Amino acid sequence: MPSTATAAKASVSRTTEQPIDIRPVTPVIGAEISGLDLSQPPNPKITEQIIEALHRWRVLFFRSQPLTDAQFLAFGRSLGPLTPAHPIAAGLSEHPEIWERAAAEYRERHVHDRSVPVARPPRDYQGWHIDITFMANPNRYSILRGVQIPAYGGDTLWSNLALAYQGLSAPIKALVDGLTAVHRTSAYDSEGKDGKKKPGPFAAQHPLVRIHPGTGEKILFFNPGTISHIVGLKERESQALIELLAGEITRPEYTVRFRWSPDALVIWDNQATAHAGPIDYAHFDQPRVVRRITVAGDLTTGPDGFRSRPLEGELFGVIG
Ligand SMILES: [Fe+2]
Repeated sequence: MPSTATAAKASVSRTTEQPIDIRPVTPVIGAEISGLDLSQPPNPKITEQIIEALHRWRVLFFRSQPLTDAQFLAFGRSLGPLTPAHPIAAGLSEHPEIWERAAAEYRERHVHDRSVPVARPPRDYQGWHIDITFMANPNRYSILRGVQIPAYGGDTLWSNLALAYQGLSAPIKALVDGLTAVHRTSAYDSEGKDGKKKPGPFAAQHPLVRIHPGTGEKILFFNPGTISHIVGLKERESQALIELLAGEITRPEYTVRFRWSPDALVIWDNQATAHAGPIDYAHFDQPRVVRRITVAGDLTTGPDGFRSRPLEGELFGVIG
């Protein structure tokens, strides 16, 4: 871990055209970036390198970046216009772009799960999801900052959805290339904790395979957390294909697991990854607080040109 002085010196040197320091964490997904001080928005050359690395490695990890909220927002805006914090949940009162998540919310879901067992296996696969796909224009990138990090536990996992597509057999690729799926807000409760009506519900129709707007790759755009059904299939067919694809996108060899540290910052390409937030809250009890901002994205496009469309609710907004 570089000292503060070393890090500052390295960040100054990045004003030249020196390449950023990229250390892959696995052969297929995840890279740690060092030598940058994100409290200063990167110059355009560095931003270009960060985006190139993000599209190559899908998720980037930065350690020891003690940012103020204003610096966090300025860094986010260097990657593109930001969205509001969340379509349903409110952001911080002074910064409507920032969504804060605390451990208690995860515990409520994972420890006090009172759902009645059903014959079908759960579709959320222990929390695997893509952000905001219940809207037709999900965010392009998500940026998460560790504010209060426990000594252990609370890791986050990401999966490479380009690889998940590449790993399918040719006949299944041909099948999914032509399909679309309906994504809905899951377990939606229209009444907020304050008793007021929340925005939503939301639903959108997306191609099951999307073309990555930056790289042109085919991405298995499959979100176990929100897909209600695959359009045009019989229910049993839809269910079976959902189970198959959920198993594919969560294969361990396509994933990386990040152990957080205080002031760590993570950027993921929400166009090419699924992720699972803390999955271990049933096993430990320590505070954990993270803050997220999201870079606005476009309607997704399939291999046959199908463009995502909203079925219920509007599009994800842009604050700028
Ligand atoms: Fe998420």
